Amino acid sequence: MTDVLSIISFVCATSKEQTLASMTKEIDDTRFRDIESCIDERKRGKPLAYITEKKEFYSQEFYVDGNVLVPRPETEILVEEALSILGQQKNITGILDMGTGSGAIGLTIAQRAEKRVVCADVSWEALVVAKKNARMLGVLERVSFLCSNLFGGVKEGTKFDMILANLPYIGSEEWDALMPDVKNFEPRKALYGGKDGVEIYRAFLQKAHLYLRNKGYLLCEIGGARQANLVKNILESAGFEVAIKNDYSGEERVLIGSWINLS
Ligand SMILES: C[S@@+](CC[C@H](N)C(=O)[O-])C[C@H]1O[C@@H](n2cnc3c(N)ncnc32)[C@H](O)[C@@H]1O
Repeated sequence: MTDVLSIISFVCATSKEQTLASMTKEIDDTRFRDIESCIDERKRGKPLAYITEKKEFYSQEFYVDGNVLVPRPETEILVEEALSILGQQKNITGILDMGTGSGAIGLTIAQRAEKRVVCADVSWEALVVAKKNARMLGVLERVSFLCSNLFGGVKEGTKFDMILANLPYIGSEEWDALMPDVKNFEPRKALYGGKDGVEIYRAFLQKAHLYLRNKGYLLCEIGGARQANLVKNILESAGFEVAIKNDYSGEERVLIGSWINLS
């Protein structure tokens, strides 16, 4: 029912409250057909966010389409942790959001903390979405966009104070068990992290410290205890001090690494 209400409001370009208040009004034929076809798409499993082209994240509306992952509520934990560090460490300036997708993480940080952020993604199409969102959130002048396969496109010698990442972390076993709504509609390259789920993270973490200033922070989202331990080990052997933050259902969700260069 709530999906239908969202669809009617989307097609009629009204708020849900307005839709509810005008339930007795007639809908013209064109709109009626549009509503029907959206409901059919939803029945076939297309995520509501792709149909209505929007998703709320950290109390802001983001534009989304099939080129980006639909931002998830659990990712707000990473944002909260980053904002808490930024609240205490006022001198942090350079921030990178690797695998930005819709820009949910990087743009929220740019807006809430009023910081400059580089939003990077391997997908050009995702960056187009992120840029559209930056304009909608009014942070375009604080954000730059970089099409890059991990650090491949980042100029050597560039150093950030904070690197944020929600890279793909679904492994082969979890892939098979994914809901069809996710598996059939969300971009595979936004989800699939190789056989054990952490292949992309492994490559990313091998290089991350080279792009961090001394005493910099690295925050990344992961999925559960097995991955948390794998990623924690990689980070610790690269010289990071690591803390783990669980999500509201008790799953390990965010790794916070602080980098102290002893060399
Ligand atoms: C799980 S999605 C996260 C999107 C967004 N940060 C969020 O939290 O909603 C992962 C993102 O990483 C990007 N990605 C995948 N492989 C990458 C790579 N090798 N280098 C840079 N970005 C990559 C995908 O295109 C996708 O946008």
